[in-house]
Amino acid sequence: MNEIMIVPMTEEHIPAIAELENQCFSEPWSEKALAEELNVPSALFLTAMIGGAVAGYMGVHHLGDCAYVCNVAVFPEFRRRSVASALLEAHMQRAKEAGMSEISLEVRTSNAAARTLYEKFGFEHLGTRPKFYRSPEENAEIYSLYLNK
Ligand SMILES: CC(C)(COP(=O)(O)OP(=O)(O)OC[C@H]1O[C@@H](n2cnc3c(N)ncnc32)[C@H](O)[C@@H]1OP(=O)(O)O)[C@@H](O)C(=O)NCCC(=O)NCCS
Repeated sequence: MNEIMIVPMTEEHIPAIAELENQCFSEPWSEKALAEELNVPSALFLTAMIGGAVAGYMGVHHLGDCAYVCNVAVFPEFRRRSVASALLEAHMQRAKEAGMSEISLEVRTSNAAARTLYEKFGFEHLGTRPKFYRSPEENAEIYSLYLNK
């Protein structure tokens, strides 16, 4: 199996990541929205590469002492090969180095794959935001991982 490489997102990756967004989400981020993140000082977007192809990505905003996860997605053909885990580990490392104390995120209540991933990494379930998502309307579950514990 080819090795997973985690690198900073660049303009070159954006068409593939926009396609991934289209495949995964009902309100996908556009190429323009992704490109704008390259100029946001608080944004850290990482791409996972396998054999020269974009396998997945994960974007985070560092706000105060909290790293807030904007999105994570992996192409179906690369799932269950620890790509999301590698992205999360890379963000955990960078958040610790930047002095963050917490990684926080929301996830659709029905998204069992993502919830299992976060729980495996020790994220704590803090509560529910009713009707947080649209298309379709659904509650969000709030999770945080405390980095100094
Ligand atoms: C959620 C997602 C990012 C996981 O990516 P992935 O690269 O397949 O995840 P990993 O291989 O690192 O999985 C790590 C662990 O998460 C859990 N997990 C991942 N996918 C799972 C699934 N479909 N069912 C149950 N558990 C799952 C498992 O515990 C897994 O460990 P294991 O393979 O040793 O059992 C991927 O399914 C995806 O892109 N989904 C669509 C987009 C999405 O929902 N993003 C999250 C938005 S909050």
